[in-house]
Amino acid sequence: MQVRRLELKNFRSYEAAELEFSPEINVLWGENAQGKTNLLEAVAWLTAAKSFRTRRDSELIAFGAERMSVCADVESRGRAFRIEASVQPGVRRSVTVNGVKKKTAAELSGVFSVVVFCPGDLELIQAGSPVRRRFLDGAICQLYPRYAAALAEYGRLREHKTRILRDWESKPDLLDTLDDFSLRMAAAGAVLVRTRAAFLEKLQPAAARFHRDCSGGREELTLRYETKVADPAADGPAVARCLYEDMQRHRRAEIDSRSCLTGPHKDDIAVFIDGREAKTYASQGQVRTAAIALKAGEWEMHRLVLGERPVLLLDDVLSELDETRQSFLRERITGGQVFLTCCQLPGGAVGGRLFHVSRGAVTAQ
Ligand SMILES: Nc1ncnc2c1ncn2[C@@H]1O[C@H](COP(=O)(O)OP(=O)(O)OP(=O)(O)O)[C@@H](O)[C@H]1O
Ligand SMILES: [Mg+2]
Repeated sequence: MQVRRLELKNFRSYEAAELEFSPEINVLWGENAQGKTNLLEAVAWLTAAKSFRTRRDSELIAFGAERMSVCADVESRGRAFRIEASVQPGVRRSVTVNGVKKKTAAELSGVFSVVVFCPGDLELIQAGSPVRRRFLDGAICQLYPRYAAALAEYGRLREHKTRILRDWESKPDLLDTLDDFSLRMAAAGAVLVRTRAAFLEKLQPAAARFHRDCSGGREELTLRYETKVADPAADGPAVARCLYEDMQRHRRAEIDSRSCLTGPHKDDIAVFIDGREAKTYASQGQVRTAAIALKAGEWEMHRLVLGERPVLLLDDVLSELDETRQSFLRERITGGQVFLTCCQLPGGAVGGRLFHVSRGAVTAQ
């Protein structure tokens, strides 16, 4: 997938811009607050009329303007699409693809997709497990809509069980249904555990390859799915049984603590660099490399599952990285279109095209 041409009118800091991109790496450089992230945001927004920075479309309209519009020529699944979208307060958002109106964001999301790395994603390595679960679940949901249904079902059952655990003292009868909820959570949870384990097994080599190449062959990244289930690759009923047994072992503790203590909502991805836990031992540059590698793994998963890589948007990835890593990101990521922002004019070569961004104007160099 690739964006060939992009036209912005009154999109954030851009009054008007028209750009043509390389199918390979596009490096956007410029000082702070010049509009680099705004440009990535415009590309990402087109995938589902959704920004990675805000929920409010009105924020995307340039200060003082009444309406913004974005138009892009993209190539996806071997076909060419023109996506045109505009936002105006008080008027229904309009999106067309090849001239045909799209009513919902879901209809638009099938046209083309992106994987975004933004500075907040550095948390992937060092923050608590919810961040990594969100990454994993989010990546899987994009590729397997049925997983989203299982995840929602598990969430509903967990909420219900939590209510039982919270309210049983005032309504002791509630405890009669506790085991049944554990059983149903275990059945839904087995889908999560098996899918996540299979997904990570495929993502791991792609992330490891990226990390190895980026570090000049010096570092080995490994990912391990951390779950209570001894064999997540076992069949569904076996995994469900394992989850249920663990819930039963924690039954008393769950009643006492009034919360669901065990299940796939507690699972995690353990990240290791050269065999040591990255969370504890990795340097800043290693943390950054590993976080980008996880995203690159997600990028590759699209290719394995859907046959095509989405556009990869890397916002502000170069700082804290040594020259080996920087030059890999600038020059040598292959297999799809990449947009990368940075503050300084890159010293070495650029794999595709170089753009200078200054005060909402973009100049190809
Ligand atoms: N709706 C808007 N209208 C006009 N300008 C806006 C709007 N929203 C944001 N901006 C401005 O756009 C500017 C550039 O933002 P952007 O995040 O793209 O900068 P950047 O080049 O990525 O900088 P940094 O290197 O600091 O990340 C900001 O100064 C911000 O005030
Ligand atoms: Mg920025």
